[in-house]
Amino acid sequence: MRIDILSAVPAVIREVFNHSIIGRARRKGLAEIYVHDLHDFGLGKYRQIDDYMYGGGAGMVLRPEPLDAWIRKLKSERDYDEIIFMTPDAPVLTQPTVNELSLKKNLMIIAGHYKGIDERIRQMHVTREISIGDYVLSGGELPAAVLVDAVVRLLPGALNDETSALTDSFQNGLLSPPVYTRPAEFKGMKVPSVLLSGNHAAIEKWREEQSRKKTARIRPDLLKNPDSDK
Ligand code: ADE
Repeated sequence: MRIDILSAVPAVIREVFNHSIIGRARRKGLAEIYVHDLHDFGLGKYRQIDDYMYGGGAGMVLRPEPLDAWIRKLKSERDYDEIIFMTPDAPVLTQPTVNELSLKKNLMIIAGHYKGIDERIRQMHVTREISIGDYVLSGGELPAAVLVDAVVRLLPGALNDETSALTDSFQNGLLSPPVYTRPAEFKGMKVPSVLLSGNHAAIEKWREEQSRKKTARIRPDLLKNPDSDK
């Protein structure tokens, strides 16, 4: 998979992709990730990329020309399955969307900044808009990093344990059960005995029950979701 990210402040996220599971996936050749600087196609001597809002209002808007130039350049080099704009005024990201995107070959992600991007870019180029939650961040870089992380970790070979992505919270519409490691007793608190029993059927049943209880307590909305098979 190849992912191209367009950003006004690429330094904010370049480093994120060099480490841990995403860094390893890149080194293994599973994912190519490029973060491009909008200033490369900025206007004039100062490589301007933003401007005041027509009609008045606080905050700057990303001008269409640098975005359009980057998008056209990249599109001339390969076909993109999706051109995604990270923005709070969009459907909120869920695991089914992440799963779907992990099957694509080439993704482009626009990390907006300031008050947003010129609407004409959304109409002309963007194929999908994604929010990472009902709150506003100062830019789309961290949301883009969230999306890339969620997608790349699903690529075959990215995780050491192939099954672990399937047991993540949300993959079955439920939250993950509690997990424990050694020691079996820590400051007087014991690991539930079933986990030490070696009885795999009993362990599976306990995990399922714990998942259900935790979801009912913390995220009852997930149990009402008609898309869930639970
Ligand atoms: N840009 C700013 N806030 C955002 C959010 N919540 N999701 C996606 N992009 C954003």
